[in-house]
Amino acid sequence: MKWRPSIPPASCCNTVLRSVMTIMPPQAPSALALKNVTRLFDLRQGFFRERKTLTAVNRVSFTLRRGECLGLVGESGCGKSTLGRLACGLLSPSSGRVLFDGRPLPRAGAGSWAAGRIQMVFQDPSSSLNPRRSAYASIAEPLAARNSSRAEQKEKAEAMLAAVGLEGMGSRYPHEFSGGQRQRIAVARALVTHPDVVVCDEPVSSLDASVQAQTLNLLRDVQERFGPAYLFISHDMAVVGFMCERVLVMYLGQIVEDAPRDALFTNAAHPYSQALLASAPSGQWKKEFPPLLAGEPPSPLAPPAGCPFHPRCPKAADVCRVEAPDWKETAPGQRVRCHRP
Ligand SMILES: Nc1ncnc2c1ncn2[C@@H]1O[C@H](COP(=O)(O)OP(=O)(O)OP(=O)(O)O)[C@@H](O)[C@H]1O
Ligand code: SF4
Ligand SMILES: [Mg+2]
Repeated sequence: MKWRPSIPPASCCNTVLRSVMTIMPPQAPSALALKNVTRLFDLRQGFFRERKTLTAVNRVSFTLRRGECLGLVGESGCGKSTLGRLACGLLSPSSGRVLFDGRPLPRAGAGSWAAGRIQMVFQDPSSSLNPRRSAYASIAEPLAARNSSRAEQKEKAEAMLAAVGLEGMGSRYPHEFSGGQRQRIAVARALVTHPDVVVCDEPVSSLDASVQAQTLNLLRDVQERFGPAYLFISHDMAVVGFMCERVLVMYLGQIVEDAPRDALFTNAAHPYSQALLASAPSGQWKKEFPPLLAGEPPSPLAPPAGCPFHPRCPKAADVCRVEAPDWKETAPGQRVRCHRP
């Protein structure tokens, strides 16, 4: 099968999407690097409030190159948002390192040297905007946190309002906008400091299908214009195929495949990636990848020994039950964590 990025995602079928893809050279310098990052959460459960440790992100390493759009896909609960929050300093790793521009990334905050250089766009624009602040004030806020002058705040916030198609609407409040427009404000707010990296966590999944495509196009337009790298989190393979040049597939806290988009969509090497493609709601990849995925993912409180996917994998062999697979390169730029790719 030839994967064609110009095919609109099924979830965005009401609007025709543009199809310009910018393929970043593999040697582009890295903006963000995660090295062996693990994040644990301590929980208290049961009648006796027993203490348990949940591994939300498990020894994850990857590099986000400058200007790249890197996708992160996986089922609900696999750790995507936790990884996104680690990548922008909203959470600290339990172990491992997050490097931004070659330096350890500090916790997000107004005083940090990285403030404004890594931003986040969340799934639900209503909860990420203060209802008592005008669109203009919300967009200017990250500049105010960096002590920009009033004149600079005004100039940049107005330019961003225009860039997201809301020129002249800065004095309105969030409830006066539609869901799609609120997400535009959230995008403007994230981009106003001209960040190097934007973590987009399911930025269109709360929007109506008719505005999903517009919002994806907007995200691509502003990326072309302002040049940030995106870590683009989604559970929708078609959306990731439209937006991203490279994709990480995550399962139970681990990255199990790291591949260029075209390689993944035509020749996914990990049985879990194949299963995700086969079960995409659009049905686009049903022929190439027979449905394989059975049952629910195991609890991250008690991950299986060996390969974490083995209880659901039709290719599982004895070795998979006892030995965690290492990375294997299956094609140039495509690597996979599987004993039998
Ligand atoms: N603050 C927290 N305290 C305890 N457990 C947490 C916390 N945040 C996340 N988790 C747990 O970590 C695991 C990963 O959660 P996360 O939200 O990162 O998954 P996700 O892939 O983003 O899921 P979804 O697709 O539903 O958004 C889940 O089991 C979740 O319950
Ligand atoms: S290592 Fe084994 S169980 Fe895991 S995905 Fe590969 S074949 Fe399946
Ligand atoms: Mg999430």
